[in-house]
Amino acid sequence: MSFDLNSFLRPHIAKLQPYTSARDEYTGKEGVFLDANENPFGSITEQDFNRYPDPYQSALKTEIAKIKAVRTSQIFLGNGSDEAIDLLYRAFCNPGKDNVILLPPTYGMYEVSANINDVEVRKVALTEDFQLQPEKILAAADANSKILFICSPNNPSANKAKREDVLFLLKNFKGLVVVDEAYIDFSDEPSFTAELDNFPNLLVMQTFSKAWGLASLRLGMAFASEEIIRILNKIKPPYNISGLTQDTVLAAITDKNKVDQMIREILDERDFLQSELEKLSFVQKIHPSHANFLLVKIPNATQVYDDLIEEKVIVRNRAKVLLCEDCLRITVGTRAENEVFLKALKKVC
Ligand SMILES: Cc1ncc(COP(=O)(O)O)c(C=O)c1O
Repeated sequence: MSFDLNSFLRPHIAKLQPYTSARDEYTGKEGVFLDANENPFGSITEQDFNRYPDPYQSALKTEIAKIKAVRTSQIFLGNGSDEAIDLLYRAFCNPGKDNVILLPPTYGMYEVSANINDVEVRKVALTEDFQLQPEKILAAADANSKILFICSPNNPSANKAKREDVLFLLKNFKGLVVVDEAYIDFSDEPSFTAELDNFPNLLVMQTFSKAWGLASLRLGMAFASEEIIRILNKIKPPYNISGLTQDTVLAAITDKNKVDQMIREILDERDFLQSELEKLSFVQKIHPSHANFLLVKIPNATQVYDDLIEEKVIVRNRAKVLLCEDCLRITVGTRAENEVFLKALKKVC
């Protein structure tokens, strides 16, 4: 399919001369480094952090490329996926002129980022069972619709989008299609990264914050064509991923067994939580989950939410969110945490 990225890009970004950092201009490892105004004596901490990190995270991308079966040139790393979301707006959406299509109920940052960047949001609700409405999405779009955000598995509904709907939109939506796969590790759905070479308008987001258990390190991934990745790299802050994050994740990702084991444990706990909730007569609905949380419908959800806080159990109140009336979003915890939650829920309901 044809997708002319250059006509799509904001003109001033196309012309932008990016900042070149000291570590861009000289990439060798050996020598006396007097180029970046660092502290030559080390750090005030036990571990040294005095040198600026690799701005393009080459070593880390080499390992991620192996795990994700993509080329290093197809990877962008951000300070969480949230950084990638913001950069996409800044690269492609002219404030006050362009728009993006969002599919509520969905992850809140797409809209917040649009508002920060003064970009119009057009909303096309999911169906009652949280599926996409492809024809309505296309009807809502016009020549200024730059990005369509599809979250699958979706937050907060936990389900996955039908693959054929996403493929239909990839073929027919004229702008960039972002498939946010933050929760893909908890699903049996294969990643859309396998489609990158077929669709130049596809960008897939994933994160180390969920299955990998590294939310605090802030590392999000975006996979797309080389041209799109080049644009994101051009406009990102020079050292957006700390050296600590790069080194820690690099050391951790070689142990793929560990993350697989953690995912299995979370899925087991999800089954446990689901089966225990099914036994409770006041639970009206547990939405099928492809994520590490359950969306659960309970009468007077907001009151239940408040009462759970009194019991020192904190879940996410989604009761005011479109199509999620009287729903709480419950992250799958450890067995001990899930039992505390279930006990508190039985007490307050
Ligand atoms: C769908 C979705 N995308 C992205 C994110 C943010 O991920 P990160 O921690 O990488 O910024 C979240 C966080 O909850 C999410 O639910």
